[in-house]
Amino acid sequence: MTSPAAPKVVHARAPGKINVFLKVGSLLDDGYHDLATAFQAVSLCEDVRASAAGDFSVGFSGGTIDASGLPTDGSNLAIRAARLLARVTGYRRGVHLEIEKNVPIAGGMGGGSADAAATLLACDALWGTDLAREELIDLAGQLGSDVPFAFTGGTAIGTGRGDQLSPALAKGQFQWVLALADFGMSTPEVYAELDQHRLRHSQDIFPAEPQPQVDAGVLQALRAGDPHMLAEVMHNDLQAPALHLEPELASVIELGEENGALAGLISGSGPTVAFLAPDLDGALELQIALSAARLTVVRATGPVHGARIVND
Ligand code: C5P
Repeated sequence: MTSPAAPKVVHARAPGKINVFLKVGSLLDDGYHDLATAFQAVSLCEDVRASAAGDFSVGFSGGTIDASGLPTDGSNLAIRAARLLARVTGYRRGVHLEIEKNVPIAGGMGGGSADAAATLLACDALWGTDLAREELIDLAGQLGSDVPFAFTGGTAIGTGRGDQLSPALAKGQFQWVLALADFGMSTPEVYAELDQHRLRHSQDIFPAEPQPQVDAGVLQALRAGDPHMLAEVMHNDLQAPALHLEPELASVIELGEENGALAGLISGSGPTVAFLAPDLDGALELQIALSAARLTVVRATGPVHGARIVND
């Protein structure tokens, strides 16, 4: 007697990211900014399990992050990713997505982007649509500026909107300690705050570079795998506007730096603060110190892989 085959489930995983360096150019006519960033994918990952369905739906279960506030309708980026893939390939049915969230929501670490990248990969395998990697990365770019990097992972330089990627050489593993906030921040609001700040102070500050670049020292530090060197050159143009909107984050950065972090930086548009530790022992000590101050803290290492299929 043959038992009925279990319904097919494809499991894909994609990482969150830290922008170890981010320079923002001037505001363009399309509402975006040219930027230059160094991304590092870190070991906080989103797990997406895709199973065949007639329609498109998403649920959240497991994971370390409470996802109860997230939309499950067509505005969810994972659903948009699945629908986009179905549209371009002519696939006529749908998918149910079950997502385990471990990357903070609206935290500046690209959690939604990781969901979208893992969804593209999982649906492509589930549906047998078999697009080339370059085609999937192109679709990723249509979904959001950070989605291509969640797809490729590792350590990379992003230009344009952050979606034009070139791999960066990185040696060894960096130890990160992340202080999570109990609130989210809106990326467009943080960019708008930066634009307003630049307008208000146009007399006193240099105008934004039209084509920003990643400092050579950042590439050198990544290549050397040297956290001390990297700490010296970490930078984020979105940090000042994020701190202007949420001033209490400044004391989080200070606390980490007083407790052994080589440097603390707002990740992306915030509010997560990423601390670079000298080594694993330093990261563990920092985690204990920040937890004792009642902050929500997780450790992560980087770089890690981009989106991939997991064989359960
Ligand atoms: O591409 P994504 O949907 O992630 O971008 C969210 C928002 O972040 C944009 O609507 C824009 O306000 C801002 N953004 C920007 N310049 C970039 C990337 C994002 O102004 N290069």
